[in-house]
Amino acid sequence: MVYITRRERFSSAHKLENKNFNKEENTNIFGSCYNMHGHNYELFVTVKGEVDKETGFVTNLKDLKKILKSYVISKLDHQFINDVSFMKGKISSTENVCIAIWNELEKPIKNKLNCELFSVKVLETENNIFEYFGK
Ligand code: NI
Repeated sequence: MVYITRRERFSSAHKLENKNFNKEENTNIFGSCYNMHGHNYELFVTVKGEVDKETGFVTNLKDLKKILKSYVISKLDHQFINDVSFMKGKISSTENVCIAIWNELEKPIKNKLNCELFSVKVLETENNIFEYFGK
């Protein structure tokens, strides 16, 4: 089994807010993150699989790149995360972004790439890094 990680970048705005809370409660919990602000995120997607004898590849990275672009990056980059289709109704924390990206990618990676999603890691700042390995 070989593990491959592809990095992508996206720049997006978000605002941490629980719509069930009033302004004061949101400010107490989320502080300045209750204001709209942005991050230059880095996404690391790791897939795992066996090496194909014919190609020497686990999967063609060109195809992985295409899936990441169409299912995730094109929807997040230069967007307001709170309004992104797969984030609707969720708090736009990077924890939830990680889980949502996993849910977007799991099936296409399995069905189109002949390998399996292993982890989704999102770097929000150089000091804050989030990682999800599925359920
Ligand atoms: Ni933030």
